[in-house]
Amino acid sequence: MTARGSSGGRVASALALAALLPCAAKSAAAGPAAQAAPASGDLRVATATTLLVTADGIASPLPGAAAGDAARGRAIVANRQLGLCLLCHTGPIPEERFQGNLAPDLQGAGQRWTAAQLRLRIVDASRVNPATIMPAYYKTEGLTRVAASYQGKTILTTQQIEDVVAWLQTLKEPAP
Ligand code: HEC
Repeated sequence: MTARGSSGGRVASALALAALLPCAAKSAAAGPAAQAAPASGDLRVATATTLLVTADGIASPLPGAAAGDAARGRAIVANRQLGLCLLCHTGPIPEERFQGNLAPDLQGAGQRWTAAQLRLRIVDASRVNPATIMPAYYKTEGLTRVAASYQGKTILTTQQIEDVVAWLQTLKEPAP
């Protein structure tokens, strides 16, 4: 599968996104990946991209994406077909009624987390919390219960993820 596990010599905090593979997911379930995280390895995400996860984030913008656009990101989060974020989260999007209460308020996310941390949480929240209910927005392998129309595809594109991250970064005000 992939060179997950320890390929010694790498900085302990450097992980690649290999936990997206089923075998890696199992070992991730043994303990919160973000905390343990001593293993380094290649994590394969959608497409042939390998993303380097450092500490608990993805520092570099996703491949192929231009700088994120916060206004577009806000629209993606508000969109009930695309992001579905408001199914679970509340956020400072007052025009959208019936927001979720299953997850933290997105308000303040830009103060609580760095861009790298936000990026990882959108790409694959299970890297941080193996038991999360939050969908992995940029992952195709190791997923179960995927609708036929989504098989082999990510929920969001790299550009959409960068846009969402850009908007989340603007949310500096603490939640009420
Ligand atoms: C099915 C429910 C669900 C959906 C849909 C969802 N999330 Fe989440 N999200 C969660 C939960 C639950 C957490 C809390 C941490 C955990 O359990 O993984 C979380 C955590 C987060 C965090 C970290 C929150 C914090 O400050 O601690 C961010 C940021 C986030 N989600 C953004 C998003 C965005 C943006 C979308 C849409 C693109 C989204 N989420 C869609 C359930 C969801």
